[in-house]
Amino acid sequence: MRILNPNIVAKLAELHVELKHGAALAELTSLGIGGTTDLLRIKRHESLPDLLNLLDANHVPHKFLGGGSNLLVGDGELPWVILQLVRPEPDVVLDGNLALVDAAADLGRMITFCAKNDLGGMEGLIGVPGTVGGALRMNAGAYGMQIGSYVREVKLYRAASREIEVLRDHQIFFEYRHTSFAPDDMMLAVILELPSKPYKEILKGIRICNEKRRSSQPLGQKSAGCIFKNPPGVSAGRMIDELGLKGLSVGDARVSDRHANFFVNAGHASAKDMLALIADVRERVQKSFGVSLESEVVVWNA
Ligand code: EPU
Repeated sequence: MRILNPNIVAKLAELHVELKHGAALAELTSLGIGGTTDLLRIKRHESLPDLLNLLDANHVPHKFLGGGSNLLVGDGELPWVILQLVRPEPDVVLDGNLALVDAAADLGRMITFCAKNDLGGMEGLIGVPGTVGGALRMNAGAYGMQIGSYVREVKLYRAASREIEVLRDHQIFFEYRHTSFAPDDMMLAVILELPSKPYKEILKGIRICNEKRRSSQPLGQKSAGCIFKNPPGVSAGRMIDELGLKGLSVGDARVSDRHANFFVNAGHASAKDMLALIADVRERVQKSFGVSLESEVVVWNA
């Protein structure tokens, strides 16, 4: 979708929003899949209510993009524009055990920065690509921890009130790969309360998690992490593996040889290929195990 109306273009500039025509989502997502649309880069959180009023008044549908690491976007010209926060400098400010983090901050860099300041807890998430905002919205977790456990406060744009609000931890529910935020709420910043730990000790934990991840996940390849959620008590990856589906392909979309719940883009996979592969694997698991797998990856299909 293209924003060509000069009135809207002028207003975007007034709101400190940078307009990039024809951005390729394949370049903005870790899967390397996705068509093109206009990208609006937001430099000031405070502009959001006015920006969204402007888009709605002009019937311009939109979606919020974080780091694009858990996302499968449709092919071709997309029927909505993309909104993305510009990362401020600095993006993490520490105050005792509290880390005040902008949603656009890179998750891995934030964990390392806190570690260097003797603040731990987040070791399990090292190696997970994406932004802090994206991790927060999905309640990203690994190796027995999840980011939601450390959240004290979240600043967000709330679609329901059309305003920027601050929610305290008791006002938010964090579950396995799920939160109580509405799909069109936009994470802006978070305050995490992290336990004090000596840097050397945190580093040990980080190394162990890195090693586990390297040995079991296809890190060098284009993927969106795990495709399916784990149903209670079972591993989706193990079931897919037991069916002998590693290496199964549709075009360049392929079930990883290393971890069967990672589907990789082995070349120039389209969203159509990836969706067909997901549907095929889901059907086979349903037939053999009687288990209906739910997507973990977020799908934006036109
Ligand atoms: N397994 C297989 N074959 C495979 C993959 C796994 O037999 O191809 C077996 C493993 O040997 C292990 C069991 O299945 O006994 C579980 O595997 P793993 O430890 O890799 O964990 P997982 O349940 O597949 C979950 C999360 C990952 C997270 C890891 C580590 C989900 C859907 N997956 O994977 O998160 O990194 O634990 O904590 O919750 C993600 O969210 O994108 C993601 C990758």
